[in-house]
This record gives sequence, C-alpha cells and structure tokens, in this order.
Amino acid sequence: MPKRQFRKTAFTALALVAALAVSQTGLADADHDHSAHEGIYKERADTMKSFGGAAKTTGAMLKGKTPFDLAKARAAGQLVADKASTIPALFPEGTNAGESEALPIIWQDWEGFTAAAKLLGERAGVLAAAEDQAAVGAAFGAMIKACGGCHKTYRLDKD
Ligand code: HEC
Repeated sequence: MPKRQFRKTAFTALALVAALAVSQTGLADADHDHSAHEGIYKERADTMKSFGGAAKTTGAMLKGKTPFDLAKARAAGQLVADKASTIPALFPEGTNAGESEALPIIWQDWEGFTAAAKLLGERAGVLAAAEDQAAVGAAFGAMIKACGGCHKTYRLDKD
C-alpha cells in the first residue's frame, strides 16, 4: 500500500473510531436516562403509584362508584401510613434528574419536606382507624390534602 493511501485509510479508520465513540456516548446517555427509571426513581414511583391506587379505591367507594367497604378503606389508609415513613429515604439528595418531577426545593427545605411526609402518615393513620363511612370520608379528605400539600410545593406542576 502506498504511504499516502495508508495514511488515508488510517485516517478513515480513526474517523470511524471517533464516530463510534460519539455514538457510544450517545448510547451511554440513553442508558443514563434509562437508569433514571430504575433504582431509587422506580422505587419512588412505585410507592407514589401505590398511594394513587389506595386513593382511587377509597375515592371510588366514597363517590358511590363501588360499594362502600370499610375494611378496604382502612387497608388503603394502612398502606399509605406504612409507606409514608419511607418517603424521605426515597429522595436522596439530588435525585431529580431526567424526567423526575422532584423539585430541588426538597433538599433546600428538607425539614418541610419530611414534615409533609409525616403529616401524610398521621392522616393515613386516621383513615386506617376509621369506624364508619362518615369517618372514612373525613379522614380520606384530610389525607388527600396531605398529598396535595406536598405536591404543590415539592413536585413540578406540569399542567
Ligand atoms: C412529602 C411529599 C409527598 C407526599 C406526602 C406525597 N407525594 Fe406524591 N410525589 C411527591 C413528589 C416529589 C413526586 C415526584 C417524584 C418524581 O417525579 O421523582 C410525587 C409523585 C407522585 C405520583 C407520580 C408517580 C409517578 O412517577 O408516576 C403520584 C401518582 C403521587 N405522587 C401520588 C401521591 C398520593 C396519592 C399521595 C397521598 C396519598 C402522595 N403522592 C403523597 C411527593 C409527595
């Protein structure tokens, strides 16, 4: 191979390697974004979704869409009460990357954030101990306000 030709080939190969490196960086970024939906982010989303499920079940029976079921309402309250105490651990500092709706104020106002989690736990505990439909209605309303209170300050409002 003439020297010139060799140089050209080597150059092309280098260019290919460089292009590959760039596309691999792209892949690495995609992986990074992907990881945002795993680990702590997934655990967090799963917990919040279970809250959403508990709220939906109880809300539906209070609206008369499903038959009132005291045991189910109390179980929903118990689920939220049990998991509310895990909320702070689901938000390690700086875990608001990618599509996360967690706002940085969570870590600037950690005391307020953990207080909001504690309030949810207390109100869910009241729902878990409700004795009748009226008590479920009142406790449920108070609990949902605790969800909204935290979301309003600490979660990105996309709407
Ligand atoms: C102490 C604060 C706090 C409380 C209390 C709280 N949440 Fe959240 N919630 C958040 C934050 C912050 C996010 C955004 C998390 C993210 O995107 O990384 C969120 C996200 C969610 C999501 C979206 C989950 C997803 O990723 O798909 C749902 C659903 C949800 N919350 C429901 C509830 C319900 C229902 C309650 C009450 C029973 C509740 N939350 C109580 C802070 C809270």
